[in-house]
Amino acid sequence: MTPKPDNNAVKRRILVTSALPYANGPIHLGHLVEYIQTDIWVRFQRLRGHECIYVCADDAHGTPIMLKARADGVEPEELIERVGHEHRADFHDFHVTFDQYHSTHSPENRHFAELIYTRLRDGGHIDRRTIRQAYDPEAGMFLPDRFIKGECPRCGAADQYGDSCEVCGATYAPTDLKNPVSAISGAAPVEKESEHYFFRLADFSQMLRKWTASGSLQPEIRNKLDEWFRAGLSDWDISRDAPYWGFEIPDAPGKYFYVWLDAPIGYMASFKRYCEAHGLDFDAWWRPDSSAELHHFIGKDIAYFHTLFWPAMLHGAGFRTPTAVHCHGFLTVNGQKMSKSRGTFIKARTYLDHLNPEYLRYYFAAKLGPGVDDIDLNLEDFIARVNSDLVGKVVNIASRCAGFINKRFGGRLADSLPDADLYERFARSREEIARLYEGREFGQAMREIMALADVANQYIDEHKPWVLAKTEGNEDRVQAVCSQGLNLFRVLMTYLKPVLPHMAARAEAFLNVGPLHWNDVAEPIGGHRINAFEPLMIRVDPAAVEQLQAASREDLASAGGEDAAPKQALEGGPIAPEIGIEDFAKVDLRVARILRAEHVEGADKLLRLSLDLGGETRQVFAGIRSAYDPATLEGRLTVMVANLAPRKMKFGTSEGMVLAAGPGGKDIFLLTPDDGARPGMRVK
Ligand code: MSP
Ligand code: ZN
Repeated sequence: MTPKPDNNAVKRRILVTSALPYANGPIHLGHLVEYIQTDIWVRFQRLRGHECIYVCADDAHGTPIMLKARADGVEPEELIERVGHEHRADFHDFHVTFDQYHSTHSPENRHFAELIYTRLRDGGHIDRRTIRQAYDPEAGMFLPDRFIKGECPRCGAADQYGDSCEVCGATYAPTDLKNPVSAISGAAPVEKESEHYFFRLADFSQMLRKWTASGSLQPEIRNKLDEWFRAGLSDWDISRDAPYWGFEIPDAPGKYFYVWLDAPIGYMASFKRYCEAHGLDFDAWWRPDSSAELHHFIGKDIAYFHTLFWPAMLHGAGFRTPTAVHCHGFLTVNGQKMSKSRGTFIKARTYLDHLNPEYLRYYFAAKLGPGVDDIDLNLEDFIARVNSDLVGKVVNIASRCAGFINKRFGGRLADSLPDADLYERFARSREEIARLYEGREFGQAMREIMALADVANQYIDEHKPWVLAKTEGNEDRVQAVCSQGLNLFRVLMTYLKPVLPHMAARAEAFLNVGPLHWNDVAEPIGGHRINAFEPLMIRVDPAAVEQLQAASREDLASAGGEDAAPKQALEGGPIAPEIGIEDFAKVDLRVARILRAEHVEGADKLLRLSLDLGGETRQVFAGIRSAYDPATLEGRLTVMVANLAPRKMKFGTSEGMVLAAGPGGKDIFLLTPDDGARPGMRVK
């Protein structure tokens, strides 16, 4: 896509969205690629004086959420309420500045889902027909493809999903699976008929081709669309049978909108909510001839929904279509898919427990480009990059100059700069850097900014204020050189402000200036008093990164993890590699008596157990709080792994592990040995 010209002179009205995260699991670093990317773009637009409104919501409907609530023994409303709070807190703490964060399970969303459906139906774009589908007779429900497992019809591999084989790569219909079973109940599915509602996507072929060609999409996505067009656009099944967690279709009792119908409509619902609260005219942003811009940021996995169904639905229902859909790639950590056992499946909250969110914002910015390539978080590179760029280059400029100004000149900056040309060179870069931000070339923008930081440091190296300061009569020079340095620093912090809003705020306080705006850099500052310098950012501590990985492994170890989304729970599958008997023999299993069991302040999953191993007492943290009242555990026997290396956790050291089984949530079974066992006894 060609970057937009720098039309900063015109005040644009821009509505921006990120994809709505599912309300059944925690935000992880993969998600954050998207929310950080979007937030940087949004902050940049606001910094340039545009009206930019950023909305999002939890995607709160669908089968996985229904099943997760069941597994947790709560109503879906309770689950989405809890997860919604966690999501908001995570985003807030990563400085993601939504103007509105809503839920698809909201009155506004019901209204727009019904409105859009009704308009599409009245326009003749909805068909009804009966289809045969796999049905779980035990669970009493139709089974989504992903919830059927069986043997691959091509290679015979066991335990494959209903859509494709992970062993040989074959794709097929779930009815093709050999010996299929329901992933919900284990029962053999039967075929059952039911009437479904279909959106006639092909009615919109012309319109979609035109929209695709209008410059709304990245070249990679446009090519993908051409492929889809060539393959032909098929009808889209937008209904699901009860039991389903979602909105009932108005004229079809017992039928529900498929989650992906009302999910993107959630963008409108969230914005509607914002309009109500702030007196904005919703229609002015959503009618077909609106002059406002609409930008969606999404991951490449959900491009089909956003570039075909969504614009077609909008158009068919008399609304505007998106100005642009911006796709990003997937996050890998240390070059591999995020993995729980490697400690690289990192939750947003776990990260926040150990590291400054702005480190990650900067690192992602430095890695992000306009394309759909995957981006890699290499943890060693992360430490090196943040330390060298932000601390070594940017903060260094300020810390080298601040002391002289504060100690020798009462904090006063010189009235004018000794090298106006150099300042001008920095200020002029704002156009190029703005162009890069606008085109989502954040990595390139960070490189330009760091190249300027190098220039600023060279300037200070050349003029050596610390040498000047040693000779009498050089006072003015010292003040001038340091004022020049701090002015260059101020320009750089303005350019970094979309990425590092909190560091920028600290820089503003230090420089004793109001909130920096993009065009403020046109003029240098001088003749006023700055404040005492405090470190604006400290170095990444490699030990904290190690602790983060260890804690991420522990997130996995604690049974009944809240992150066990139904999809993962159902996928089951071994997380650990196969081991031989000699490996198993290394595990020292012992009977232990639970002397004390207590809640751990600040850990909603953990119990602290004191275990008697027949003379020796061990402290063990177990992620079984959801299943047990600690009082009922005291005095009971359990089985523990006695030779597990002690692990330092946030709340203390864990000296072993107790064995538990079960699906998680309330149903965890502590393995209790038979009568006659005594503490310390070996379990064979
Ligand atoms: N609920 C749908 C989106 C509905 S939008 C109308 C969904 N939710 S999600 O929680 O699975 O993902 C939310 C966003 O995060 C998506 O854009 C997805 O691509 C992105 N990511 C999820 N995991 C990711 C990585 N590992 N890496 C990068 N982005 C990732 O899809
Ligand atoms: Zn196969």
